[in-house]
Amino acid sequence: MWQGFPLFPEQASSLAARVDEFYIFMWLVTAFFTVTISATMLYFAVRYRRRRADERPGEIHGSLALELTWTIIPLLIVVVMFVWATLLFFAQRRTPDDAMQVTVVGKRWMWKLQHMTGQREINELHVPVGKAVRLMLTSEDTIHSFYVPAFRMKMDAVPGRYNETWFRATKPGKYHIFCAEYCGTEHSGMIGWVYAMEPTDYQLWLAGGPAPVSLAEMGQKLFAERNCATCHTPQGAGRGPVLNGLPGSKVLLQGGEEWVADDTYLRESILRPSAKIVSGYQPVMPTFQGQLGEEDLAALIAYIKSLPAAAGDAAGRPSSNVPASK
Ligand code: CUA
Repeated sequence: MWQGFPLFPEQASSLAARVDEFYIFMWLVTAFFTVTISATMLYFAVRYRRRRADERPGEIHGSLALELTWTIIPLLIVVVMFVWATLLFFAQRRTPDDAMQVTVVGKRWMWKLQHMTGQREINELHVPVGKAVRLMLTSEDTIHSFYVPAFRMKMDAVPGRYNETWFRATKPGKYHIFCAEYCGTEHSGMIGWVYAMEPTDYQLWLAGGPAPVSLAEMGQKLFAERNCATCHTPQGAGRGPVLNGLPGSKVLLQGGEEWVADDTYLRESILRPSAKIVSGYQPVMPTFQGQLGEEDLAALIAYIKSLPAAAGDAAGRPSSNVPASK
């Protein structure tokens, strides 16, 4: 009888059941205290009502036992909530290492998704069941939010930076994508579907359609077209820093600050090169603001990440990049 009126969306990801359990726990605690306190208030109002005009109750000078009870019990309850929620938060924030990556670009009013292998989709995302999927989200205009209720997963797509989240679909099916951040007149129409497929079906889906060019290959082409290699040589003698081994490492900036070269840093360094100048280099790189779209940027970053990490020139001198101490 509840078929047409589900209280909860389907549980279709590895974290969905855990999110629901925590939600139900919070709901039960809240319901218990709401009912108990309301009932006690009603009972006391009737039981201790004033019966005669000259009736005066005796004064109460406090009770240590009572005060300890109503301090310690709520404290224990909120500590349980805190620890439970924190464990869940970490599970949601830490993407498994074996995750496959999909770039998600929000744009009024659609979702553009791109697989590392090159497949592009609009308002649809095909993924294999059982495989962790890392989403790198950004936006071309305003803030959007990528929401898949069946996965209990939601992450904002913010212009100018990358946000990361992940999910692991646990059963094949078709699950709604919503935009969960008001973004204009057709916000409500900014919807789509995730297709969670058996791995064999997913392979068939990948094999269908024209042979795609991988994201890194697209980036390599752009890298050549934009003459990036003129300055960013793998040998370290160019006017720009060596890019091999750069992603994820720490760079020393002018002024002595260290910065982790994550995707957002790489993106900014392409669009606004003078924002963070690497120590020992001049601010000579032209800006690519307005010339490269979000998909171009994702491709360039994928290419830079695909470069062999072995940095340093033929003489064996290390590059200026300080390796990250992980
Ligand atoms: Cu995009 Cu709301």
